[in-house]
Amino acid sequence: MQPIGVFDSGVGGLSVLQALRRELPQERFVYVSDAGHAPYGERDVAYVLQRSLAIGDYLVRKHHARALVVACNTATAAAIATLRSAYPLLPIVGVEPALKPAAVRSHTGVVGVLATRGTLASGKFKALLQAQSSHARFVLQACDGLAAAIEHDDVTQIRALCTRYTAAMGSFGNAPGAIDTVVLGCTHYAFATHVFHELLGPEVALIEAGQPVAQRTHSLLAQKITYDAAAGVPNVGTGWVELWTTGAVATLQDAAERWLTGSGPAHYVELF
Ligand code: DGL
Repeated sequence: MQPIGVFDSGVGGLSVLQALRRELPQERFVYVSDAGHAPYGERDVAYVLQRSLAIGDYLVRKHHARALVVACNTATAAAIATLRSAYPLLPIVGVEPALKPAAVRSHTGVVGVLATRGTLASGKFKALLQAQSSHARFVLQACDGLAAAIEHDDVTQIRALCTRYTAAMGSFGNAPGAIDTVVLGCTHYAFATHVFHELLGPEVALIEAGQPVAQRTHSLLAQKITYDAAAGVPNVGTGWVELWTTGAVATLQDAAERWLTGSGPAHYVELF
């Protein structure tokens, strides 16, 4: 059975892959971390677009992916429209900051959004913000360096940056005017959830998009289910993950051991 291709600039997309595996336990996944060209969030759009097309091409041509999940908010903003035109028949799912669920959940009507500089500057995000602006007040914070700190599991730097960026946003909690809901608008930040909870307190909800992306992928694939002609049974894989990185193999391997169960060894791939 052809796999589902998943990619991110680094290990952040493993947070989406976790949700995908829970949602689609029998599927095969090929994951690409583009750590050799990260971070995406502080690069220009043309660069992220070119990287996303190179990885899409690799997943489709070399691994015969039957669907793509862009497990990166920054790459989704920069490249999903172009990827969809390049592969019009392929189901392609992206991830974007979950502003709508956050606005629905918020009682104070004030929502914090943590994301990369690239995501916040994108036209796609501006349109999303515009569409939700009557439902909540959004406090935006670009988090330069945080994805890189999470990528390298630099615990001291993660805590320092989370502290600095949340302090810059105002007050948190249930009081009127305080931020009671925070959108984690970069897939890396899901791996700093425990730090944010410690800093912001238990009453502040953290919203990430792994689960909705997994459900969306499931429903797109359910519409496209194929059958083994000879046996007449649904063509499902056997719950298997292959990991590739353009950066350090050990970084992806260590992250997968921490956050994914049952994945195989990581491999290096050079992609231009
Ligand atoms: N994980 C990516 C995202 O969701 C960005 C990390 C980076 O800046 O490379 O936006």
